[in-house]
Amino acid sequence: MDNKNSTNLPIVLAISGASGSIYGLRLLQFLLEHKYGVELVISNSAKRVMAQELSLSLSSNLNEVKKQLLSHLKLNISDEYFSVWDHKNIAASISSGSFKTRGMVIIPASMGTVGAIASGTSDNLITRAADVCLKERRKLVIVPREMPFNTIHLENLLKLSRVGAVIAPASPGYYSKPKTLTDSIDFVIGKVLDLFEIDHSLFKRWSKTSDIFSYAMSSPE
Ligand SMILES: Cc1cc2nc3c(=O)[nH]c(=O)nc-3n(C[C@H](O)[C@H](O)[C@H](O)COP(=O)(O)O)c2cc1C
Repeated sequence: MDNKNSTNLPIVLAISGASGSIYGLRLLQFLLEHKYGVELVISNSAKRVMAQELSLSLSSNLNEVKKQLLSHLKLNISDEYFSVWDHKNIAASISSGSFKTRGMVIIPASMGTVGAIASGTSDNLITRAADVCLKERRKLVIVPREMPFNTIHLENLLKLSRVGAVIAPASPGYYSKPKTLTDSIDFVIGKVLDLFEIDHSLFKRWSKTSDIFSYAMSSPE
């Protein structure tokens, strides 16, 4: 019998071709640094975006991709709990509900991937793995990145929310007074980690003792 509880299970991390691939890589870095198992899928469009935004040209060889990512993220770790899957490999373990995971996060999520999941096409590994999470009632966190949204985007996101996905837009808060781009990115990553109940200190939390709270309480209307 499998006695693993869900907190020991890997997280499926998908990076699709929306702008903001740095969010996906920062989450990958945090999870691997803290020894969480990761099943990673990167769409072909995401590779295109990474080349544009991060000057990172990923190989078509999956072992090479793993090495490139560990090097890019300056991670010197054992990669036994880190798998990279081909976007087209619909026979990968994560395309079956019998392979247990803690859930899935798509970060950043393109409107194309959101639309495909909402219509249930399951035509690549990201859309199939998301479909599996929904049917198995596992956590599916979608971090959309588009601006502005059209009505089709909004309807697709609403549909996914109604069937149990959590829609967590890449929109950092400012009450924690971010000073750098990294602070803003970490705010979004911290909110995603909260959804998986993973402890972190990536942003300052709102509390009665924090200076941001005191300021708000003493400000004139
Ligand atoms: C540099 C670049 C930035 C892009 N940014 C976005 C974006 O923010 N949101 C989005 O929905 N699509 C964006 N796209 C378009 C998607 O990459 C495109 O729709 C693609 O088909 C999505 O494929 P995927 O969902 O399989 O990754 C961008 C494309 C490029 C080249």
